[in-house]
Amino acid sequence: MSNKLEIKNISCNINDSQILKNINFEIESGKVVVLMGPNGAGKSTISNVLMGNPKYEVTSGNIVLDGEDITDLETNEKAKKGLFMSFQNPVEISGVTMTNFLRTSYNSLNNTNIQLNEFMKLLKSNMEELGLDAKFRGRFVNSGFSGGEKKRAELLQLMLFEPKYVILDEIDSGLDVDGIKLVSEMLNKILAKRKMGVLIITHYNKILEYIKPDSVVVLKNGEISKTGGIEVAQKILESGFNE
Ligand SMILES: Nc1ncnc2c1ncn2[C@@H]1O[C@H](COP(=O)(O)OP(=O)(O)O)[C@@H](O)[C@H]1O
Ligand SMILES: [Mg+2]
Repeated sequence: MSNKLEIKNISCNINDSQILKNINFEIESGKVVVLMGPNGAGKSTISNVLMGNPKYEVTSGNIVLDGEDITDLETNEKAKKGLFMSFQNPVEISGVTMTNFLRTSYNSLNNTNIQLNEFMKLLKSNMEELGLDAKFRGRFVNSGFSGGEKKRAELLQLMLFEPKYVILDEIDSGLDVDGIKLVSEMLNKILAKRKMGVLIITHYNKILEYIKPDSVVVLKNGEISKTGGIEVAQKILESGFNE
């Protein structure tokens, strides 16, 4: 069986205007792919299409996860198949604590009913790994979190849910240089322990000082303009997206 997430010839419309044109690339299990491109290139559109956001109309192509066509599945079904997306701007859910949110999601994704004390143990060890204060558990989801805390809350989900394929949409946005370093180091630690295929979406190069991709895909005006290894990213770092 092929352990990879394949994006095959995907085109997509929003409100009848075409945003993505014939996108082809794949994320192998255990590998890191970086998707780069200027603002408005269509990067977040790709992540929305992968997760099945109903606002995005797929007009051609298929999404295939470990050999299974998942193009038309609902978002929650895709999540159960092992697809995870971290939002560029994580939503604040006031009134719902992190513990409740994470436990409910955990149970739903795993079709289980983990006992509270057992879940707390799991949560505690993962939070310690991320250097998150215990108080964090009782706070409302993303409510008043700093930029770095929001990103760590996303990484915490990644650790608890152990998805097969992970889409990180601008996990570096809203962070200063030290914040990017910290989040990258945590991500590297997580990936060293768990086999996941990762798509890192960024319009900024800083994160590539800390995370070494196996391949790089460059998007421009809704189309792939270049693919290759780390050298493709280095070229962009030197001369920008427009050479
Ligand atoms: N919900 C939407 N409604 C209308 N146009 C959208 C919507 N989302 C994105 N677009 C358009 O699609 C294009 C790609 O946007 P996006 O995928 O967010 O780019 P990126 O993430 O690369 O900055 C842009 O021209 C943007 O204006
Ligand atoms: Mg975006």
